Amino acid sequence: MRFPEFSMERMQSTWEHTVTYDLSESGLEALTLEDAVRDLGLLAKERLGYSNGMGRDATRTAVASFHPEATRDNVLITTGTSEANFLALATLVEPGDEVIIVMPNYMQLHGIARGLGAKVKEVWLREEWGWRIDLDAMRAAVTDRTKVVCVCNPNNPTGQALTAAEVLDLATIVEPHGTWLIADEVYRGAERVGPETATFWGHHERIIATGGLSKAYGLPGLRIGWMVAPPERIAAAWAMKDYTTIAPATLSDLLAEIALARRESLLKRARYLLTERWPILESWAASHAQDLHWVAPAAGGICFFGYSYPIESTELVDRLIRDWSTMVVPGAHFNAERHLRIGYGMPTHTLRGGLEAIDRALVTLAD
Ligand SMILES: Cc1ncc(COP(=O)(O)O)c(C=O)c1O
Repeated sequence: MRFPEFSMERMQSTWEHTVTYDLSESGLEALTLEDAVRDLGLLAKERLGYSNGMGRDATRTAVASFHPEATRDNVLITTGTSEANFLALATLVEPGDEVIIVMPNYMQLHGIARGLGAKVKEVWLREEWGWRIDLDAMRAAVTDRTKVVCVCNPNNPTGQALTAAEVLDLATIVEPHGTWLIADEVYRGAERVGPETATFWGHHERIIATGGLSKAYGLPGLRIGWMVAPPERIAAAWAMKDYTTIAPATLSDLLAEIALARRESLLKRARYLLTERWPILESWAASHAQDLHWVAPAAGGICFFGYSYPIESTELVDRLIRDWSTMVVPGAHFNAERHLRIGYGMPTHTLRGGLEAIDRALVTLAD
């Protein structure tokens, strides 16, 4: 197994604690421990043994509650959505299998599929349609040889969400081929506009939905994720998990239970922060109507900009980091050159400072 470099995560891991303005983040300003748990005494008595490898029953039940018809037997608690994605795909795919990835994409499942020796086919959202899905292209791509279709919904990097009808259509297209569908739903609940995004879970028997606390809930540091799947997939993933992380971190599993008991209020917070901060990015974008194009995002603290400057996106971001101590994500990290993903869920002073720095950098390009 040789995994390709995960370019975006490598860049973020290298620079996120070094740059002054990190606008590469896709989630929301994180909660403090005090924000997350009003009664810190609850933590003091927790014995720091191994937690249950599947996660606490209460945490699993809470996750099941927002996946229709799921029970806790359908839920495995993982170390971040990252581990859920890894286990879901690695327990399904053999070398030579075909995997379709809906693009542009976060690229974790893309890289894992390649690392596992799968043949990756890409089906692109259509930028000219406002990054909507091309269901005909999917119909043409998926065949009986397709082992898994991977979709990220709401989408990273575009911030667009499929409608409930599109979710159903996509599931229906995949179903007759005996193909699995892995839906990374980590941005579900982080909608700025519109209703909570429909889950793929439950549309047919070969669906795995993944998610976690890192985005909508503002708790990435807990490293808590989940996989919602038929029991035999949960069993396969749990068996592989014995080799990866064994069990969730005990305190994180407890904090996840506490956070999910307040799901509604945490999701309200997410919508509030996105609504508060989007106008800052939107008015900045409006001042760049000549040189940038974008579609207003529906979910996630991100917007995906196309640009016309004669410079590759990685070179542009290298300059931003080096000369302006500001990081955004180059489109090249999503195989979408001449684009930038800019986050807006961070504290407003960081957002404003970072956008001003980008302005100064862009002026030098226009010369
Ligand atoms: C689509 C997507 N899936 C998974 C992850 C990783 O999530 P976690 O921090 O829960 O491991 C990210 C992080 O940016 C993401 O954008």
